[in-house]
Parts: sequence; C-alpha cells; structure tokens
Amino acid sequence: MAAAGSAVGLGNIWGFPTQTASNGGAAFVLVYLVLAFCLAYPALMAELIIGRHGQANAVASLQKLANNQFQKRFAFIVGFGGIVCAGLILSFYAIVAGWMFSATLEPISVIAGTEQATTWLSEQSLSRDLLFTAIFIVLTVSIISKGVENGIEKWSKRLMPALLFILFALIAYVLTQDGAMTGLKAYLVPDFSSILNPSLLVSALGQAFFSLSLGTSVMIIYGSYISKQENLVSLGAYVTLIDVFIAFVAGMLIIPAMYVAQAQGVEIFSASGELLSEDTLVFQVLPALFESMGSIGIYIGFAFFALMSIAALTSSISMLEAPVSYVVEKFALARIQATWLIGFIVSVVSVSIIFNFSALFGFVVQLTTQFAQPLLGMLCCIFAGWIWHRGKLLKEIKEGNESVENTLFWKVWPWYIKFVCPLAIGLVFINSL
Ligand code: PFF
Repeated sequence: MAAAGSAVGLGNIWGFPTQTASNGGAAFVLVYLVLAFCLAYPALMAELIIGRHGQANAVASLQKLANNQFQKRFAFIVGFGGIVCAGLILSFYAIVAGWMFSATLEPISVIAGTEQATTWLSEQSLSRDLLFTAIFIVLTVSIISKGVENGIEKWSKRLMPALLFILFALIAYVLTQDGAMTGLKAYLVPDFSSILNPSLLVSALGQAFFSLSLGTSVMIIYGSYISKQENLVSLGAYVTLIDVFIAFVAGMLIIPAMYVAQAQGVEIFSASGELLSEDTLVFQVLPALFESMGSIGIYIGFAFFALMSIAALTSSISMLEAPVSYVVEKFALARIQATWLIGFIVSVVSVSIIFNFSALFGFVVQLTTQFAQPLLGMLCCIFAGWIWHRGKLLKEIKEGNESVENTLFWKVWPWYIKFVCPLAIGLVFINSL
C-alpha cells in the first residue's frame, strides 16, 4: 500500500491529464497504457526485486549485485543518480502540491467570505507559492523524520477508495454537461496517425516512469522494506494496476471537464487550438467545474483537493525516503538530522525554481521525468538482466512465491528485462533525438 501510495499522486491527476491534453488526447492514452504495462511494470519489478534482495539503501542494494570494481562504480552512479533525481523531483513536486494546498483552502475562504484571501489563494504569486511549498516540505520532512512505516499504509488504504469515489461522482456530473461528449471523444478515440510521433512516445514513456516512481531509487528502497514472505510479482502488478487505473479515471474527468469549461467561457485553448497554460490546466478546469455546481461545489472542491494533497504527501515521502535512507546508512547520521538536511537542500532548489519559474520549472520536470527516470530505470533493468547472477535473481523471485515457476512471468520476465526493456527504452530515446 505504501508503494501504491508512492505511485498514486500528482502524476495521476495533474501529470497524466496535462500530458494527454498537450499530446493530442486518445493517441497518447493508448501509447501510455501500452508503455505502462509493457515497459514500466517490468522495470518496476526489477527495482522491487533488487531492493528486496539488497535489504539496504539503493546504492548498497545495487552494489550487492556487482561482480567487480567497475560494476560497483556503475552501481554507485545508478543508485546515487536515482537519489539525486528523487530530490530534484521533490523540489518541483512540492510546488505543485503547494498549488493543491491553496486550492484546498480556497473553498474555505469562500465560505468565510474573505474576498482578499480568496483572490490571493486563486492567483499564482511568489508569496503564495513560497508559503505553501514550504509547508509541504516541512510536512514531508516531519513524517519522514519519524520513519516511513508510521501510518503510511493506513493513509494509503483509505485514500485510494476515497479518491476513486469522488472521481467517479465527478465524472457522472461532468458527463451531463455541455461539451463533455466532445471531450470524451478526444480522450477515447485515437488518431492513429500520431501514435508513432517521437515526442508523444518520449512523453508517454516519461509519464509512465514518473507515475510508477521509477528510476529514482524509491522502489528499490521500498522493495527493501518488503518481507521475504510476500509475493512480489503480484504486489508489483497490483501497484501498476491501481496506478494506471486511477490515472485513466482522472483523465476521464479532466479531459471532458476541459471542454465543458471552454464551453462555459473559460479560456482553455487558443484560437488555433493550442493549450493556453499547460502546468496550471487542472487548476483552471477543476475550480470552474466546482463553481458550476453551485454551493455544494465548494464542499466537493474542498474534499477533492484535500484528498489530492494527501495523495501528494504519500508520494513525496517516498521521494524523501530515497536520499534519507542512503545518508543514514552511509554516514551513520541520525534519521532526524539527515531528513532536515535533505529537506533544506530540496527547499533551496524549490525556492530557486519559484523565483525563476518560467526558465526552470519546465526544464527540471523534463530533465527528471522524460530523461533521467527512463534512463535510470533502464539501467536498473540492465543490472537485473546482465549483471546479477541469473540463479540468484531467480531465487529472489521465488522467495514468498513458490509456485512462480509455473507462471509466464518466470519464463518471460528475466529475458524481457535483459533484451526488450533496454532496447525499447533506448529506441524511444534515439527516436526522440
Ligand atoms: N509517482 C508519483 C506520482 O505519480 O505523483 C510521483 C513520484 C513519486 C515520482 C516518487 C518519483 C518518485 F520517486
């Protein structure tokens, strides 16, 4: 449940619909689904298995597989690269999570009738972003400083059903509105001619890896917390299914809602059909939707954004856990000190992004999600497929899952991550260059 909590977050409700909208709708959805199941799920399994075998932080777990000094150094680069990547992701994620916080408070300010506060909360500004990003980082740090086990499972367990319930209720409402059917068509009926578009492919791959928290060492460290009695193969499959399902459902709400908002006069597309403000799309579309519901919309808006803020937290704590577990084990630092230290470094990067938003935000998002995550995820597959001794790899898969030998996974997966994953990910990259 903690791994599902890491996977389900802003990537599902903010990232996926935004990417879908800016990459031409249904064609992106189709490619995303294929890549999530055929490349991201096998890569997720590689990371979880490496972590459970290593029983340590990401660098140490990867180094445990190395057979010589050169491979050890390579393991360090991959593990440490993932840790840096997790920290960088956290620095922009905290900003978007801060937008979720302000969107949660906005309905309260409407009920309280404080107009000035409502205006401040609804418009992007330095003061608003700095304050809410800081609150989000401090919350993440305070949870992680106490250790990852405390209560995360409980939160995640309640969060997913609640999130799905509210998403389905909102979809039912949105589909009754003018313009929704055009949106649904854009979401579900693909234009096959754009499926092999290199930029669509690389965006879908990046989004799939981002959504499953891959290439960041996070799933390695979470894997190390999974007991040897658990069936890893089905755990990984559940995480993937939950994650992909929630993203798909969220898209079914947000893409039609974009068209409804446009029909109601909110400017979503330019005259030539381009999206006007990509990053903040969800924050225009959803508040417009809640407003159109009348007074009950205020409460629904509050509940929705509060749930999203919790979803963001169950993801951000996993990002912080990756570097913290490394620093604690490597430098024998107390957990609380390590957490605040890394929290401070992440805050400095976040503040730099906020002050140079137009230059840095998109750059850091792209660098981490479209470039570093698939690349590092691919390197983890190479570790599991080429460097790890095959017999030991199979033994680890068998732990907690004696009957795995009769499954397709057992027969296919070891070859698949050895040849197909690295090659396919490499090809998407080369294609995009
Ligand atoms: N998977 C998270 C989401 O979809 O919101 C984001 C994420 C978490 C990315 C952890 C990377 C990571 F290491």
